Amino acid sequence: MNIVLLGAPGSGKGTQAAMISGRHGTPHISTGDILRQAVTDGTSLGLKAQGYMDRGELVPDEIIIGVVEECLREEDCERGFILDGFPRTVAQAESLEESLKEMGGSLDVVLNIEVEDEEIIRRLTGRRICGKCGRIFHLLFDPPRDEGVCEVCGGDLYQRADDTEETVRRRLEVYKEQTAPLIDFYKRKGLLRNVRGEKSAADVFEHVQETLEGIRG
Ligand code: AP5
Repeated sequence: MNIVLLGAPGSGKGTQAAMISGRHGTPHISTGDILRQAVTDGTSLGLKAQGYMDRGELVPDEIIIGVVEECLREEDCERGFILDGFPRTVAQAESLEESLKEMGGSLDVVLNIEVEDEEIIRRLTGRRICGKCGRIFHLLFDPPRDEGVCEVCGGDLYQRADDTEETVRRRLEVYKEQTAPLIDFYKRKGLLRNVRGEKSAADVFEHVQETLEGIRG
């Protein structure tokens, strides 16, 4: 299936995308991960993106749209894809529609994960990520067995630079101004399914699974 995960920062898009991909083998494309890797590698994309990311602003459409188009062409999209963090503006959504049409495809569903702001701040300020395998932890909700160490691969855990409370609040404002309009955009196209994101990750995944099965028929 071709799936878009929509939702505020910290709503659990990355967590659910990893679970869907783990269960069904569908490729997971995260624009945030692609951009962070580019920053780490010091590529021209990373140099252009870093300032926006550190401030909690969106990277300009003309930069990110090209990145996703290339990714969709390279990925083995026959098994479908899970887009996590893209589109984030109406212009990005329109360009995605156009690219998929050119490739003879279309979206099957947009899962909109709903979580209240204060819960988001708790989640993001407590998030820790493995620098080696990318496994996402939370200091309270999903703590690693040994502090600061990934229990999957033994890698060191780090906190994202944009997960401070001040930047998270700015990311939430940006989400409401620029990304939330996509809820109506996809509702009008009949693709939107709301998922209540405040239960445990496993319970949210169960709801996601039921929704995907309902669409597959
Ligand atoms: P990106 O990396 O996409 O960040 P985001 O959308 O802000 O989302 P997050 O990754 O912070 O959260 P998530 O929803 O994936 O939550 P997660 O599963 O990790 O983007 C970063 C930046 O890159 C942007 O600010 C922008 O600058 C740029 N960018 C990216 N895409 C762009 C685009 N298309 N256009 C322009 N710019 C772009 O979960 C969060 C925490 O909560 C974790 O600790 C997790 O363990 C925990 N958790 C998850 N689910 C649950 C649950 N059910 N219960 C309890 N805890 C949970």
